[in-house]
This record gives sequence, structure tokens and C-alpha cells, in this order.
Amino acid sequence: MKKTLSYLIPIMLCFAVGALGSYLQTSALAEWYPTLRRSSLTPPNIVFPIAWSVLYLLMGVSIGTLVSRGDMSVVRLWLFQLLVNFLWSVTFFAMRSPLAGLITILVLDVLVFAYIIYAASRRPLASWLFVPYLLWLIFATYLNGYIYKNNHSTAHAVQASTLVRQTTINHDKVMNYSMPTLPYSADALVPLMSRETINYHYGKHLQTYVDNLNRLVVGSPCEGMTLENVVKCADGALFNNAAQVWNHTLFFDGLTPLQQPMPKRLQSAIERDFGSVDNFKEQFTQAATSLFGSGWVWLVQNNDGGLAIVSTSNAGTPLRDEKNPLLTLDVWEHAYYIDHRNRRIDFIQDWWKLVDWDKADARMKHS
Ligand SMILES: [Fe+2]
Repeated sequence: MKKTLSYLIPIMLCFAVGALGSYLQTSALAEWYPTLRRSSLTPPNIVFPIAWSVLYLLMGVSIGTLVSRGDMSVVRLWLFQLLVNFLWSVTFFAMRSPLAGLITILVLDVLVFAYIIYAASRRPLASWLFVPYLLWLIFATYLNGYIYKNNHSTAHAVQASTLVRQTTINHDKVMNYSMPTLPYSADALVPLMSRETINYHYGKHLQTYVDNLNRLVVGSPCEGMTLENVVKCADGALFNNAAQVWNHTLFFDGLTPLQQPMPKRLQSAIERDFGSVDNFKEQFTQAATSLFGSGWVWLVQNNDGGLAIVSTSNAGTPLRDEKNPLLTLDVWEHAYYIDHRNRRIDFIQDWWKLVDWDKADARMKHS
């Protein structure tokens, strides 16, 4: 009985830590984690609970083999590493701090390595049972480090210009439509746009449109097309979701925490067609405030090269009219309700400070 308990108690402890850690991770995995720039080596989400379940089991059996022999000296080290293991879930997922997570997991690496050495001198089996855990931790350390490096605000500032060129609307040559990558971190636009707004607007609303698109396109006449062509081909619910994915991609891609002066080429075109940049902003703002209900306001380039302001309701998009959208503003309430409640005008004024003029300019076609 005592021997059975020596195995069961550590396994139950591991189970409790795993369950509590998973609970802490739930909202982060839904809202925050998808907004992070992650390594291409990151496995699908389903791999993590499976891997951790196996590792926790091995972890429990490992200490059980030592406890059942009456060797209590290593128990404290085992418990300590389990506590730090839990702390990693707290720092990375609950606190959403990649830096604190990285420091914690590095400490955990050292503790687990120390356990392996310590256990090897007492019972080699206990030591070997921990080796997969250490290998997984080294991999997790790399993934955590990558997230820290590539989502750190300083790193973003350096990478922003590169991503301007990398992020394109026609990103989905693969026909399983995926979330567009944000060219900034979730909190990079604070205080003009909060992390909570990004987490909901990008992490939940856009994710839902992407999921619906992937579900609805199967078996439709538009299956296998690029996103842009699905928008042009579809109607009904498929059009609504495809267009919302396309529109939101342009919207999020058109924001920047590092706003630069408007490029001369775009400025000249705006002055030519609206009289001045101030006139353009005034007309655009007027269109955005007066648009009834949900919709979008656009700066588009017509076939003759001239610029125009266009408003569309709901999921409407100028793509259907063969216009070239340069810039768009989402005036659905979900875009501003968290930060500005019902004050759309305040949202518009903040949005002007986030517009990435370089992107709008880059989308202009030579006429
Ligand atoms: Fe939206």
C-alpha cells in the first residue's frame, strides 16, 4: 500500500499542476497566444497537452521509484522543480510575460538537469525517466525565447519595415485560409488601441471569420481559390466571412506604432484629388462618422489612377468593384467599443495616429 502511494501521490501532484496550469492557459491560448509571432517549429496546439501528459506521468513514476526505496533526499528537489514548472504557466500564460517565462524556464532547465544528475547516482531508471522532460524543456525554452525576441517592443521596431514588405493580402496561396500575421505586438498600439481590443478584435472576431471561411468554402464553387477570388466569387455567408477576413487583413496591416510622415507620392495624389491632406482627412472622417451601422470606409484608387473615398456597409468591399483599396477603417462597433465605448469619433481620431502611410503608398499602382 505504501509503495503504491509513493507512485500515486507524485502522479496526482503532477496531474494537479497540469490541470491548474491548463486552466491558467485557457484564455491566453484563445486571446493572446494567437497574436504572438512564433517560431515555424511551433507544433500544433494539440501536441502540447499530449506531450505534457506523458511527461508528467514519467515525472511521477521517476520520483516514485526513489520514494518507494525510502530515498527521501531527492524529493525536495523534485517538488521544487514541479513548483517552478507551475510558475512557468503563471509567468508566461497568466502574466503573459515572455521575459518572465524565459527566466523561469531557464531556472527549470537547471533544476531538471540537477535532478537527473542527482537521481543517476541513486537509481539510473529515475534519471532516465526525466531525460525526455529535459529535452522537451530545451525545445520549450527555444520557443519561449523566440517569442520573447520577436514580440519584444524593441525587436518590433526593428522588424516593422521588413514585415511591411512580407505581409500581403494575397498571403493565402495555400487554400486553408489562415490568420494574417500582425506586423506589431498586441500591446504595441497602446494607449491608442489597447491590448484587450487587439485580443478581441483580432484574436476573436477575425479568428471567427477565418474559421467560418474555412468551414463554408468547402464544397462551394469558390473552393480552392485565393482569398481575393473567393471574395469576388462568393455570396451570402461565404462572401460575408471571406470579405471580413480580407477587409480585416488590410485594416490590421495598415496600422503601425511607428507612424512616419506621408510619402511624397501619396501626398501629391491626395492633394491632387482632395485639395489638401487636411481636406482628405476631414472628408474621410465625415464619411466614417456618418456611416450608419456597421461597415468600412476606404481610400481607394480607381482604374484611372484617381483616389476616392468609399463607404461600404457590413462586409462590403471595393474589391468587388475592381477598385484598388489603399487604406481602410473598420467602423464596426467591435473595433472601438472596449476602448471608446460608443464614441466612434474618438476612435477615428486615435486611428489617424496609427495609420501606416508607407503601406497605403506601397499599394498604389502606377497609372
Ligand atoms: Fe472588425
